Amino acid sequence: MATRSTVILGTGSYAPEHVLTNDHISKMVETSDEWIRSRSGIRERRIAAPNEATSDLAVQAGRRALADARLSAADIDLLVVATMTPDHPMPSAACVIQHKLGLPTTAACFDLNAACSGFIYALDTACALVGSGRYHKALVIGAEKLSSFVDWSDRGTCMLFGDGAGAAVIGTSKTPGVGLLGTRLGALGEDTHLLYVPAGGSRMPTSAKTFANGDHFVKMKGKEVFKLAVRVMEEAARDILEQHGLSANQIGLVIPHQANLRIIEAIAQYLELPVERFFVNLDRYGNTSAASIPIAMDEALRLGRIKPGDITLLVAFGAGLTYGSALIRW
Ligand SMILES: CC(C)(COP(=O)(O)OP(=O)(O)OC[C@H]1O[C@@H](n2cnc3c(N)ncnc32)[C@H](O)[C@@H]1OP(=O)(O)O)[C@@H](O)C(=O)NCCC(=O)NCCS
Repeated sequence: MATRSTVILGTGSYAPEHVLTNDHISKMVETSDEWIRSRSGIRERRIAAPNEATSDLAVQAGRRALADARLSAADIDLLVVATMTPDHPMPSAACVIQHKLGLPTTAACFDLNAACSGFIYALDTACALVGSGRYHKALVIGAEKLSSFVDWSDRGTCMLFGDGAGAAVIGTSKTPGVGLLGTRLGALGEDTHLLYVPAGGSRMPTSAKTFANGDHFVKMKGKEVFKLAVRVMEEAARDILEQHGLSANQIGLVIPHQANLRIIEAIAQYLELPVERFFVNLDRYGNTSAASIPIAMDEALRLGRIKPGDITLLVAFGAGLTYGSALIRW
């Protein structure tokens, strides 16, 4: 149990400059803007430059979050980076980011891979460590360069994903009942095969054969993932509301993982909430995995969609399959 309220002191996000529209994609694979929009709600996504890696996106978002919190790099003693697309298999992206941001060498820095649920997992971890008093100020970043892992000749996956980063600075407050109220995390490990990158790990090291087969790219069973996503996100949302004695109607804004508008609409329907209560920006970014919720949260705050005292529900699912929900009172 956290002994103090852990609160978000500032947020920031960054999306690479290059915009890749559905029309562009329809020149690469057999698809159309109409098909992609009607099946997913996505119109365009951002793609990092060849010389931009995940850490470069993360650093921009991290700097913005620090500025928003009016803190400097020297104030941070914990960095948790949610990513499944680190710059290298080793070391962690967190160590690269620590150096680029100029965080103290006494700061604990590590990556956490929970795929698209990564930001909620990282937020929970950082808040637990800061709430216990072991650390004082944490920087939590969700950052991905998925464009490096997508097969640009596979029309079933390539149109879904995009690159980006979002960040939040975590501290404490003496006011009880504010900040992170709770989380509900879990995983369905039996379903790893529905969404994964087969090669490049210890099971199937990269070789000429894996390269020729395209085994280093994302493989997905879209329909199965879709159905599970709706089910587990709805359950994760219901569970956490029940744990805290809240009804869906008391939630000011839901910030769901931005994977597919039809998934979000189905969850809204099951929770009997108007879809307007859900923050949606996947039309402009696609699915940025661990970056999706922190980018959306940063935009929602900047657009005034979250007011002091509001309760926000975060809910996500991702490869693993992982899932998670969180409640934040501002
Ligand atoms: C990927 C997704 C949009 C596909 O939508 P869908 O309605 O399930 O479509 P299907 O996969 O059943 O494909 C239907 C048809 O469209 C075709 N198709 C697939 N992608 C296409 C594309 N980009 N353009 C045109 N046609 C396409 C399929 O080949 C299939 O053709 P067939 O009936 O002749 O076999 C959807 O399944 C989805 O969003 N799943 C969840 C993915 C996700 O969120 N992943 C990330 C998890 S964090």
